[in-house]
Amino acid sequence: MAEAFTIKMPKLSDTMTEGTLVTWEKQVGEQIARGTVVATVETDKAIMDVEIFREGYLSGPLAPVGAVVPVGGAIAYLVADVKEVKGGEAAAAPAERRKSERVAEAEPHKFEPYGTPKAKTHIPAMPHGATPAPRPRSGFASPYARQLAGAHGIDIHSLKGSGPGGIILAADVTAPMAPPGMAKRIFQVPGIGRPMDAMEKAVAHNMEYSLSMPLFRATVNISPDRLSAAAKKAGYSLTVALAKAAGLTIQKFPRVNAVYQHEDRIVERQQIDVGLAVETEGMGLVVPVLRDVMSKGLKQLNDEWRDLVARARIKRLKPQEYSNPTFTISNMGMLGVTNFDAIPSPGTSAIFAISTAGPQGMPVTITADHRIVNGADAAKFLNTFKQFVEQPESWISGGAAALPVASGREAIVQGKWDYDVVIIGGGPGGEDCARDLADHGKKVLMVNDAPFPGGECLWRGCIPSKAWRAGADRVRDRMHDAHLGVLNTNKPKLDWKLLEKTRRHILETRGELALKTDKGVKIEVKQGFAYFDSANSVVIDTSGNQNDPHARPARGKGGKTERVTFGACVIATGAPPWVPPIPGADSKGVLTSDTVWNLKTPPKKLGIIGAGAIGLEMAQIFADFGTQVVTLEARDRPLVEVETEIAKNLSELLAKKQKNLKLITSAKIDKISGKPGAMVIAYSDASGKKATFKCDYVLVATGKRPVLEPLALDKAGVKSDKGVVTVDRQCRTNIPHIFAVGDVNGGYMLAHTAGHQGRVSAATLLGEKAEYNQDKDCGVIFTRPQAAFVGLSVEQAKAKGIDAVEVKMPMNIDAKAMITDETDGMIKLVADKATRRIVGVHFLADHADTLIGEAVMMVSGDMTLEQVAQAIHPHPTQTEMFGEMARRLLSRLRRTAKVAK
Ligand code: NAI
Repeated sequence: MAEAFTIKMPKLSDTMTEGTLVTWEKQVGEQIARGTVVATVETDKAIMDVEIFREGYLSGPLAPVGAVVPVGGAIAYLVADVKEVKGGEAAAAPAERRKSERVAEAEPHKFEPYGTPKAKTHIPAMPHGATPAPRPRSGFASPYARQLAGAHGIDIHSLKGSGPGGIILAADVTAPMAPPGMAKRIFQVPGIGRPMDAMEKAVAHNMEYSLSMPLFRATVNISPDRLSAAAKKAGYSLTVALAKAAGLTIQKFPRVNAVYQHEDRIVERQQIDVGLAVETEGMGLVVPVLRDVMSKGLKQLNDEWRDLVARARIKRLKPQEYSNPTFTISNMGMLGVTNFDAIPSPGTSAIFAISTAGPQGMPVTITADHRIVNGADAAKFLNTFKQFVEQPESWISGGAAALPVASGREAIVQGKWDYDVVIIGGGPGGEDCARDLADHGKKVLMVNDAPFPGGECLWRGCIPSKAWRAGADRVRDRMHDAHLGVLNTNKPKLDWKLLEKTRRHILETRGELALKTDKGVKIEVKQGFAYFDSANSVVIDTSGNQNDPHARPARGKGGKTERVTFGACVIATGAPPWVPPIPGADSKGVLTSDTVWNLKTPPKKLGIIGAGAIGLEMAQIFADFGTQVVTLEARDRPLVEVETEIAKNLSELLAKKQKNLKLITSAKIDKISGKPGAMVIAYSDASGKKATFKCDYVLVATGKRPVLEPLALDKAGVKSDKGVVTVDRQCRTNIPHIFAVGDVNGGYMLAHTAGHQGRVSAATLLGEKAEYNQDKDCGVIFTRPQAAFVGLSVEQAKAKGIDAVEVKMPMNIDAKAMITDETDGMIKLVADKATRRIVGVHFLADHADTLIGEAVMMVSGDMTLEQVAQAIHPHPTQTEMFGEMARRLLSRLRRTAKVAK
């Protein structure tokens, strides 16, 4: 057999390193002439044609549409002889190509030769042990066609091939249009059998007829909790509520209610009649039909359904009551089925198969007739159904689905308390909560174990580190001056004392201002350490109080105490740095994010353990100040919260461009020893090779963990799990009037997360509706370039059942980035293919901290690609990239949808 020619991902621009396959313009098996455009790919700049300058036949495995293939990676093959054409799709990961090729050869079901309908027809599963039919006496048959014919007892010699050169294809074996008798059916089994009864015959014939439909399937995971709660509350069956939700969805996509008729007619129907499969004793599975679901209220439908089910169970249904639905739902959820699909009955074009809800939600699979419903419509249909099920408040009668938190009833226990609400902790979580409650006239006490509010963020986290980062930025940015013709500025000198004076001044000013504001809005603030005494009281210990606002607060030592009672409480006590049990980690030369601020000068050499946000930010700040830094990370990548490609690219950039900084991943720390100014870290690298790093100090940045024991949570009955207080989306603990916000509940340990959760708990306490949704949260890591995220990555979105796609643009094609010489990195936009909703934006870019503002609005506002594409972005700014990416992705989706039709 002649060697196949590999069609590779071409390099279509100077900066292109990979391309996204947008469309296949030719199909497998088609003859290709010189100069033919076989595919289009999206480069970092535009969507471009892939032109072939050879002759042959296009052969698989093809890179699937949407696959990202590096320049030079195989996307398809060209063979000289049509008989050598292979079908199938290559695995999405290019590195897997060789493996996938072998799979395609070894598993004939992967072959999909030219002529196979584009929509994947449902082909019955191969029975175990089936042998392929022999080669046809004349002509050729594809291996898949032979296996199918063998498996299903079809006489291959009687078939006519529709492929190039008369080759018999899978489609010819299962051909829906094949005239009867064209293929002899010879299902030979031992025994003489019995005639079927009328019901069995009807089912068998219907199913056989259904096989003539070119079917395809799509699934989404749906959370049924709200609908289930709402239906229960209103006294309706969940099945009826699902039927109504399906009816509402069909109203938006009336084509699903249409049906194909031979020859080539579409019958559109106004009335939506939903058949609901129920298991009956004796009669097997029957499908009573709820007629005209859209003209009736849920109460009427529920009454009708009860009557239908009761009569179905005693075999008293009339044929017109279980025939001719326009849409069907088969719910096997109650039977513990984790995943299945169903076959639409004749006269319908689609059916829902509903499985048991698991951790990802409840899988709902649509099986649809591709002659009526296309893939994109099915996806949109499913997602709209998902919205109706997950947000039933808008349609279920009487707002019965409203969450308990939206009841308008306060969660503050009524009674004669010292305070309506006591808030423990004066960081961003506690302070934002206290201010909202005070604003609503509540009597609020905020207990804080430090002289000023602001917590970790102000005194030992975000603000002081950004003051250092700003100093380091000045030093670093001088490197770019020559690029703009500005000379003699590249040797700046750092005056540490001056920088420290500025940093301390900023913290003190902000701390004093915050306290003044808190008192001004009538929050009572007490310095001291609070712990629970009961579910409605805390004891405040003031014996550990100190006056230095820069020091980590000292805990009460069981001295002077005071007891106060409350109607509700919010725990906002944060999480201090956690130091793992590494031998020598308690040495004096070991610093944490609590004590690094006491440095008298930047160390000459610094060892950092942990390449999370703190580790990497500090590593780069000190490297920019001239310190020689080695960062040791246990995992194989830094920044675990950040999107994979962004984190990987940042690692590569640091390795290539960051002076003075070495990042060692997959490292194991054996021991820390020495004294301040002469420390040694003994570690093993990824290969197990032992090494040491001598440095002045070691900064341990291995995460933060709440300290719960001194809070005496058990006195209030508040539950914790794995060292964090467990809460729901309203930040409510298991005790309805006690909430926990920020680091102490173990989510993202970010100041804005805590602030938002503080506001959510205040709103919930006030009886308003609010929730924290991590899927819309965001973060900026202040490295250079900055790594930032809002919402979900493609992987995260897919894990949630969203058919997500992404588009990315490298910074080096942006004019502003070129001008300022900040061309490293990229921006990625992630959208839901079906609804075009933007679900995530990811950055590795300088100025991501300001650019992310627009991305946050896109994600939190559920904006669509169309909205962002049509927004007028000012020129010349980097925000133009958002519009450009949205237009680019829309164009790609339009083109792929066109080809799929
Ligand atoms: P982190 O959890 O983000 O990172 C800790 C890192 O240390 C992880 O990568 C972990 O694998 C590694 N590690 C743990 N034990 C180790 C060991 N024995 N040897 C080597 N490596 C080890 O925690 P980090 O950086 O301490 O930050 C604490 C929190 O503060 C995080 O939630 C972080 O997101 C937040 N933060 C956020 C910032 C931002 O958004 N700009 C800035 C600084 C902190």
